[in-house]
Amino acid sequence: MTSIKIAPSILSADFANLGAAIAEIADYIDMVHIDVMDGHFVPNISLGFPVIKSLRAHSDLYFDCHMMTTNPDVFAKDLVEAGGNLLMVHAEVFPDPSRVIAAARREGLDFGLAVSPPTPAEAILPYLEECSQVLVMTVHPGFGGQSFLEEVLPKVAMLRKSIDSAGLPTDIQVDGGVTSQTAPLARAAGANVFVAGSAIFAQDNPVAACKALRELLETC
Ligand code: DX5
Ligand code: ZN
Repeated sequence: MTSIKIAPSILSADFANLGAAIAEIADYIDMVHIDVMDGHFVPNISLGFPVIKSLRAHSDLYFDCHMMTTNPDVFAKDLVEAGGNLLMVHAEVFPDPSRVIAAARREGLDFGLAVSPPTPAEAILPYLEECSQVLVMTVHPGFGGQSFLEEVLPKVAMLRKSIDSAGLPTDIQVDGGVTSQTAPLARAAGANVFVAGSAIFAQDNPVAACKALRELLETC
């Protein structure tokens, strides 16, 4: 199975000290998960390109940009100029993602498709070859600190089966409510990228939390 990757979500970090928050855990993570929200696709607003650009000046890590926005295709250029690496968009916004895939390719961004809890894996399946990562939301998008929805795990299993049987390198992310209790369930279903906000940044020792999560996942 593909390797375990830890992707802390900065949504739960101290927004006044984001650079330091990332630097502290940089040696223990595989990518930084950045949640961009527009107040339309989700009922919340988080951060945008100026913040990503500022962070890029302080980090060489891979920036996994989770676009919870209604028109992420329009902003592919802004994302790459800010230093983003992965354009992760929601399948609910793009029943046919050709346009946004083309925008990502044009700008040299990696591309991914995400599904919210009510959306079936079938919304992603035809486009797996275009995706370096896919994201199965394990909470309803918009807020950190929610409880993991176990009922979405069959989607992870379905995606893992399709990805493996096609021999693709596509990573499967889970995002939302990932903790030491729930991460092994997602791992068993076939996820290999673990997005965690509260379970890392809301802890007294984020470094220890990253190490413990990886160790748990590599041994379960
Ligand atoms: C929610 C975001 C998540 C969020 C996860 O819409 O996509 O990335 O930060 O936070 P936790 O890990 O606290 O559930
Ligand atoms: Zn996210």
